[in-house]
Amino acid sequence: MLWIPINRALDIPLNKQVYQQIREKILNGTLQGGERLASTRKLCSELNVSRNVILEAYEQLVAEGFLVSYRGSGTFVADGACLAQPSKETFQKKIEDKTAASKIDFRSGIPALDLFPRKTWAKLSHTIWNDTNPTIFGYDQPEGRYELREVLANYLLRTRGVDCHPDQIVITSGATQALTVIARLFLSANDEAIMEDPITNDIQTIFKSSGASIYAIPVDQCGMRTTLLPQDRQPKFVFITPSHQFPLGGTLPIQRRIQLINYARHKKCYLVEDDYDSEFRYEGPPVSSLQGLDPHRVLYIGSFSKILSPALRIGYLVLPLDLVEKCRQLKWFSDLHTPSIDQLILARFIKEGYLERHIAKMKKYYKNNRDFLIQCLHTTFSNKIKILGYSTGLHLVVEMQNIHFSSALLEKIEQFGVKVYPVEDHSISKGKHNDQIILGFGHLKKDEIQEGITRLFRAIFHK
Ligand SMILES: Cc1ncc(COP(=O)(O)O)c(C=O)c1O
Repeated sequence: MLWIPINRALDIPLNKQVYQQIREKILNGTLQGGERLASTRKLCSELNVSRNVILEAYEQLVAEGFLVSYRGSGTFVADGACLAQPSKETFQKKIEDKTAASKIDFRSGIPALDLFPRKTWAKLSHTIWNDTNPTIFGYDQPEGRYELREVLANYLLRTRGVDCHPDQIVITSGATQALTVIARLFLSANDEAIMEDPITNDIQTIFKSSGASIYAIPVDQCGMRTTLLPQDRQPKFVFITPSHQFPLGGTLPIQRRIQLINYARHKKCYLVEDDYDSEFRYEGPPVSSLQGLDPHRVLYIGSFSKILSPALRIGYLVLPLDLVEKCRQLKWFSDLHTPSIDQLILARFIKEGYLERHIAKMKKYYKNNRDFLIQCLHTTFSNKIKILGYSTGLHLVVEMQNIHFSSALLEKIEQFGVKVYPVEDHSISKGKHNDQIILGFGHLKKDEIQEGITRLFRAIFHK
């Protein structure tokens, strides 16, 4: 007898329940090719359901190729319908791993999601959905809405010293898509790009996926060590995070910025500036963009992921004029355009002053979180640590002398219910950052920060 438990309390139709269970048994090999199934009459009486339930389930399985039915001789399991699946244990382990990871997660770059300005966003959204011309519901231009590009050019000039016309902006799906567009624009096999080391692993992957190679330049507490820029190479571009180096947190001084610009001019290559979170600068005056020093040599990338929400998937690329058309095309090839209505809501959000008020409010909140994290680290670890890169953004780096954040130690830390992120994961030349971890603090509450740091200490020092 075919064992198919039927649960009438479920919100799933009975024919679907029969179908799913037979399908599962065929896929996992419990029912094998050539095996004969009970007749619909027999099965319906065994399961105490109507015959139609079984007929519909069999019909669907036949239509999908799981069963074959021969008039007069019955219904059989088709050959070739078995598919090996990861064992339940592996699956269970993955679920457990995820649960453990989600306890106190110091992942970097996550804003305080519960402080998203919902009410204002909903109000503006309501107006846009109701009042905008119906053409907004059609296909749009790849470079993005003029309304957004116009307020953005204004905002960037005022706050970041970025010198551009709205026509030099292409709206992208986050900074990540801007990076992909740049990779497609400049890089193919045999090309070379220069990057800071360490630098976000994902960005290395994006550039390397074009087949190009990466020339790594080490970073110190001020960012890229520009004296090491190679004179004997011909890079397509130099990628930098000058306002807030990721992950080590340095801010590039003017002398190094000038060195970079002179290098790019001499090599006739570009500088790609990733300005992903520098609005949250807690120490010293705001630093201007590199782009403002030479708009013809710098491609500037920005994002709303940290200042508002990563779920919006809105970022932008500010380009020298002669690169705009090619980038428009690449954006078009990639996904036609970024959702128009969200762009309009954002444009209104910026124009009516909400963005700058939100940033000011969040800056206070994050500074408070950051100060609390630093205080917890000092009281818990006393002089065993050095804290780096805490002047800007949503993360800092902790260096612990004589501690090697090996995979065994990281696993142990996770078993204590904390997740931290090794700098070494982002390094290009391996082995130099084993004693450093990244701690994101934007999305955590103070009690989570305190508990997380206590658990981290216990995990490392067996207390
Ligand atoms: C250095 C850096 N650049 C870019 C990004 C990508 O941001 P987005 O969400 O806008 O794609 C991140 C994400 O954390 C980042 O750390």
